[in-house]
Parts: sequence; C-alpha cells; structure tokens
Amino acid sequence: MSFYENDPRIGEIAISSEELHRRVDEIGQQLGAELAGTNPLFVGVLTGAFVFLADLVRAVDMPLEIDMISVSSYGNATDSTGVVRLLKDLGSDIEGRDVVLVEDIIDSGLTIQYLRSTFAARRPASLRVVSLLARERHQRNPDVVDHVGFDLPEGWVVGYGLDAGGEYRHLDEIRWFDPEKSAPSG
Ligand code: PRP
Repeated sequence: MSFYENDPRIGEIAISSEELHRRVDEIGQQLGAELAGTNPLFVGVLTGAFVFLADLVRAVDMPLEIDMISVSSYGNATDSTGVVRLLKDLGSDIEGRDVVLVEDIIDSGLTIQYLRSTFAARRPASLRVVSLLARERHQRNPDVVDHVGFDLPEGWVVGYGLDAGGEYRHLDEIRWFDPEKSAPSG
C-alpha cells in the first residue's frame, strides 16, 4: 500500500507487518492452548481493534465466536479518571462464557477498567484481556491485561487499526505520525 507515500505526516515504520504477524500468531497460539476445550467468545473493542481481532482469531485454531462492543471515553491520560460511555453493546449474553476482550491500546487504562467491571457483572466463566499495545506499567498488572503484543510507543502511531482523525487504520504496519506536518493537498 503506497497511497501515503507523499503524505509528510506519515513517518518510518514503528512496528513492521512481519513483527505484527509473528507476535499476533504467538498470542493466538497461547490463547488456543489456554482455552482448549471451551467455546470462547472474542469481543473486539471498536474501532481500533478490528485489524488485530481479524488476525488474532485466524491464529486461534479452535471453534470460537466473535462479537463487537463500542465505547467512548473522555478521560485523563495519566490518572485513569474520566467517563466511559457504552455506544454499542454486545449482541450476545456472556454469562457462563469464556470471554476474550480484544483491544488495540491500553493507555490510561480507563477504557479497559470500565469494560472489565461491566463484563464481570455479567458473570462470564472467565475473562481475559488481550491488547496489541499497552503501557509498560499496565503489562505488569494481571488485573488489567493478560496478553500484550508490544509496548505502546511514546508518540503518535497509526496503522493496523490505529487512526489519526479516522484515517490510516488500514495501513499494513504501524508507522509514526507527525501531526505538526501539513496534510497533502488534493
Ligand atoms: C482507544 C483504544 C482504547 C482506548 C484506550 O480508543 O481503542 O479503546 O482508546 O485508551 P485508555 O486506556 O486511555 O482508555 P479510541 O477512543 O481512540 O477509539 P478508536 O478505537 O475508535 O480509535
């Protein structure tokens, strides 16, 4: 894909397509082993997780189902205070199910904190959280996340589901983004 080649805001590759696929395959295989014998429900958090979810479920070699949820958060990026609002709920009942929540990013942790408590109240048999990217402090906390792909880079990145103003989610790799530069004209 090369449509962004003349876009000065798009920089070098931060995480290559090969690195992404290798790590996503590893996490998929780990989840397959952990969830053997169950019929798990994988829940993607819209919109950013859609590419990760699509690759992850294809790396899990077992029967499973997929659902989506959408939330919006207005928070404080450093102390996890803020408000999360449910925009689109699940289409399925998760009581007694083995659920895997799939996120693209855990930054302040506000969104995942809300989703964990919302899901726990619905009494699933088990709940796992998987995030493609997460801040290091969250990766050491099993109450936040169970599997993480990569450290969340300092600075703005786009691609593989991550956006800038709704654009660039379909880039095959994760690239640096510079909001100070001007968008190409036309
Ligand atoms: C991003 C991401 C998480 C949330 C994480 O969503 O997908 O849901 O932010 O941030 P937090 O840990 O600080 O709560 P965003 O609101 O950018 O929406 P998008 O997925 O549609 O891009």
